[in-house]
Amino acid sequence: MQKSLFNFKHMHDLLKGKKGIIFGALNSSSIAWKVAEKAHEQGAVFTLTNTPVAMRFGELDELAKKCNSEIIPADATSVADIKNLLEKSMEILGGPVDFILHSIGMSLNVRKGRTYDDLDYNYYMKTLDISGLSFHKLLQLARKLDAINEWGSVVALSYIAAQRTLYGYNDMADAKSLLESIARSFGYIYGRDKNVRINTISQSPTKTTAGSGVKGFDGLIDFTERMSPLGNATAEECADFTIALFSDLTKKVTMQNLFHDGGFSSMGMSFKAMNQYNKSFDNPEELD
Ligand SMILES: NC(=O)c1ccc[n+]([C@@H]2O[C@H](COP(=O)([O-])OP(=O)(O)OC[C@H]3O[C@@H](n4cnc5c(N)ncnc54)[C@H](O)[C@@H]3O)[C@@H](O)[C@H]2O)c1
Repeated sequence: MQKSLFNFKHMHDLLKGKKGIIFGALNSSSIAWKVAEKAHEQGAVFTLTNTPVAMRFGELDELAKKCNSEIIPADATSVADIKNLLEKSMEILGGPVDFILHSIGMSLNVRKGRTYDDLDYNYYMKTLDISGLSFHKLLQLARKLDAINEWGSVVALSYIAAQRTLYGYNDMADAKSLLESIARSFGYIYGRDKNVRINTISQSPTKTTAGSGVKGFDGLIDFTERMSPLGNATAEECADFTIALFSDLTKKVTMQNLFHDGGFSSMGMSFKAMNQYNKSFDNPEELD
């Protein structure tokens, strides 16, 4: 049998010679953590960043050691912190970067149990700033400092609540809509000027610190598993897809929100979900 050129096991060095910055690795469940491990495996060098608080509670040192990376603390809402991060990263890595992962999300309204019809507006602004605006700050500064090489690739993580209403996702839905819009608006400018591509990955519900904070998360993850013909996408699979987007195999993909969800976003009802739903009725055969 002829061996496929694209057998993933034989794919090495997809990111060889590439430099990057990875935001958002908190612990070994984080999507960004898996991306860092795979980027390292594929030959990239990169810096890691997270908030000073996350560093205290997280396990970032362990990842940095494993990936031979330096950690640069930064609050993604602070222009000064991001500027410092970009400048230090270029210093450490010896020039502009080829890829950046934005894997950041946080809502104090979700954390404090404030519902969407009873939002605290200070928290709301924070949600939009941390989970949406931070992406604009990063891109604007990167462009001004010329911190991304020609044909570079930037990826941010999103969720389908940007397009469809899902119970419990709260003000994070608005933040994700903003994030995806920024990817398109800046994707035009950065693409036109520097051939830099900007995309968002809309990932399945995933068991991580941020994911588990969503109301009714266990029910949600079971529902999407039943609805998706390929099942939920794991954090590790999300990392594989991210590596593909950082690699030169996807050079003309830009300004897209790419669903990485086992098919969920195109489904209306599946047999598995219908079966489970019918269990809630005494006489399902009476339904029509
Ligand atoms: N887990 C899911 O179900 C799921 C689904 C779709 C999309 N996403 C998105 O994936 C991304 C990564 O989340 P995760 O699931 O790996 O969870 P996670 O909790 O491991 O990662 C979230 C990260 O955001 C960081 N962060 C929070 N505030 C910050 C700030 N001010 N500055 C810099 N960093 C800050 C946290 O420290 C943490 O590292 C997020 O954008 C999230 O919305 C997650």
